Amino acid sequence: MVSFGAQVDFAVPHIKIKNLNKHYDVQGTPVHALKNINLEIPEGKIFGIIGKSGAGKSSLIRTLNGLESISGGSIHIHQQDLSRLNHAELIQLRQRMGMIFQHFNLMSAKTVRENVALPLKVAGCSAAEIAPRVNEALQLVGLTEKADHYPSQLSGGQKQRVGIARALVHHPEILLCDEATSALDPESTAAVLSLLKEINRKLGITIVLITHEMQVIREICDQVVVIERGEIIEAGQVWSVFSAPQQPLTQELLKLEQLDLPFALHALPDAHSTQLILKLRYAAPASQSPDLKAMLNQLDGPVQLYQSHVDTIQQHLVGALIVAVPAAQLDISALQQKLKQHIAQIEVLGYARPAH
Ligand SMILES: Nc1ncnc2c1ncn2[C@@H]1O[C@H](COP(=O)(O)OP(=O)(O)OP(=O)(O)O)[C@@H](O)[C@H]1O
Ligand SMILES: [Mg+2]
Repeated sequence: MVSFGAQVDFAVPHIKIKNLNKHYDVQGTPVHALKNINLEIPEGKIFGIIGKSGAGKSSLIRTLNGLESISGGSIHIHQQDLSRLNHAELIQLRQRMGMIFQHFNLMSAKTVRENVALPLKVAGCSAAEIAPRVNEALQLVGLTEKADHYPSQLSGGQKQRVGIARALVHHPEILLCDEATSALDPESTAAVLSLLKEINRKLGITIVLITHEMQVIREICDQVVVIERGEIIEAGQVWSVFSAPQQPLTQELLKLEQLDLPFALHALPDAHSTQLILKLRYAAPASQSPDLKAMLNQLDGPVQLYQSHVDTIQQHLVGALIVAVPAAQLDISALQQKLKQHIAQIEVLGYARPAH
């Protein structure tokens, strides 16, 4: 088995970001793109950063390899302070980090093999050094047979695999992925994500992945931070953020994952309704199935089940039930107390008339 990347030590943060600020100057007007970012990215993990367009995701990931200067704060990679590196050291550091992009950034006039070889060529490696590295990287991404094809002869998913091979030829310890699957269809997305997971597990490479899709985070990340207008607003283990999202933006990003409510449950003004629609989220280690009966027994009156969903994320069952209960005299905070041991969160989705 190929083995590169650093030795895995989960106790040491691989990347440590302290009070990071980034301003752009747009025709004399400063844009505060990153605000007091504090982050510790553990070694050997897949770390997700999610946010909407313009949130600052690309700015953040580009500061990690010095592609973007910073206005304040510090970034340490393995205790090495980025701001103290001279030009030659920065180039060396970049070789320890591979990067892949949404639009692959391949050179159309070069073959797959030549594209993958490019970073080594630029670094001045000899042809004898380059050939085995390129073959190894192409084998890793399953593209040995396409080595002499041109990018235009490949599918999107294959192009991204070339991008990944190119990012791996230097045997990096960190792989930075900027919206790596955003230009791909669902099938290619799944294939690229599972390749990234395999690379992380096999080679121990720390992966920092930015995306605007919760699905991507759910699929492969260990930890996630949510970024809004340049600030981190929520952070945690993926299963925990999915089971109890705290911030409205996180809840909104997760909503896209959910099915629409049945037609009968469209929210009505409070005064006309007799039923309250609740979403009960729960989470438990996969080895301990949660007791749904005990949970539902805490609700008074008849309980109608409208939707249920359960997912396995990082060896946890993360589930949600959408139920309707009689609206009269329901005290949500008292109910929250009663359900505390079973449920991570209760959300009132709206009100409804009972279906006839
Ligand atoms: N080179 C630049 N010059 C000036 N402003 C910039 C530059 N790059 C980014 N910005 C601004 O900084 C903010 C963050 O942009 P950034 O590209 O980091 O967001 P993003 O989260 O990656 O968005 P997207 O999902 O659309 O890629 C935005 O307000 C953007 O307009
Ligand atoms: Mg971006």
